Amino acid sequence: MHVLVLGAAAGGGFPQWNCNCALCRGLREGSIEATPRTQSSIALSSDGERWLLINASPDIRAQLTANPELHPRRIPRDSGIAGVLLVDAQIDHATGLLSLREGCPFDVWCTPNVHQDLSSGFPLFRMLEHWGGLNWRSIAVDEEHPEATFSVPACPGLTFTAVALTSNAPPYSPRRGAPTAGDNIGLLIEDRPRGTRLFYAPGLGRLDDRVRGFLHQADCVLVDGTLWHDDELIRAGVGQATGADMGHLALAGTGGLLEELARLPAATRRVLIHINNTNPILDERSSERATLVDAGIEVACDGLHLEI
Ligand code: MLT
Ligand code: MN
Ligand code: ZN
Repeated sequence: MHVLVLGAAAGGGFPQWNCNCALCRGLREGSIEATPRTQSSIALSSDGERWLLINASPDIRAQLTANPELHPRRIPRDSGIAGVLLVDAQIDHATGLLSLREGCPFDVWCTPNVHQDLSSGFPLFRMLEHWGGLNWRSIAVDEEHPEATFSVPACPGLTFTAVALTSNAPPYSPRRGAPTAGDNIGLLIEDRPRGTRLFYAPGLGRLDDRVRGFLHQADCVLVDGTLWHDDELIRAGVGQATGADMGHLALAGTGGLLEELARLPAATRRVLIHINNTNPILDERSSERATLVDAGIEVACDGLHLEI
C-alpha cells in the first residue's frame, strides 16, 4: 500500500497561528532547525490512483495542492480522492469536509459515535446535505463491538480493521470526558497481496493488551506523537489540559509510548504523527529528537511517502 502523509501536526498545526511558544516562535524567526507541518491527515491507496483520505484537516486545500497524486486527471471535475474515512470527530480531522463540498456526494466511513457528533454538535453531515450530502458508511465499532473489519471499494486488496481506542471525544460531544467505544479508532490495514500491515492511530490515549496486539502485528506503526510530556502545554504556558485530559498518551516517562514502541519487534518501522507544536521533537537539534533517532523512531513530516 501507498501512504501519503498530508499533514503531520496535531490540531493547530506548526506553527499555530496564535502560539508564541518557544517552538512556534523559533520556527517563525528561523532560530531553530524545524519544518512547518499542517494538520493531521493521510491518504492511502493500493493502486496509486484512487486514494482514501483518512481524516480531512482544515488545511486540506493546501495539502491537495501539494500532492499531485490527488489532483484531478480524467474528467472536468475530478479528484484522486475516492472517499474519506474519519478516525474521530475532532476539528482537526473533520473540518476539511467543508472544503470538499464541491465533490459531494462522496462516501464517508466513520463510527456511529462520530456520525452522531458530526450530525449534532458539529453538524457537517447535515450542513453538507445542501451540496449533495455525504454517504455515511458505518464502521460498526461500539461498546459491544470493539473491532470491526471492512473493505473500501476504492482500495482493492486492502482489509481494514477498526480498533476502538481509549482517547477522548471532542468538546462538542455529549461524551466529552466519558468517551465510549467508537469515539476514537485506530486502523490496522492489511495489504493482502503484499502480506503487509500498517497500524495507524493519531489519537492513542491508553494502551492495553488488546490494542498492543494490533501494534505487534504491524510492519509499520504510524502513531500518536502529540506530546513529549503529559503536562507539556502547562509547562509551555499555553494551556491547562494534560495529555491524559485530551486523550493522548505522552511519549516520555514511565508507561509512555516510547516504552511501548521499544517492545515492538525489531523490524517494525516506527513513525510518529499528529505532533503538537509544543513537542520538543519538532526541534531537530533537541535532545528529545536525538533520543528518537537512537531508538530508531521517525517523525513524520508533510509529504512523507510510505510504501508498506
Ligand atoms: C486532539 O487531537 O486532541 C484535538 O484534535 C485537539 C484539537 O484540535 O483541539
Ligand atoms: Mn487531533
Ligand atoms: Zn506553539
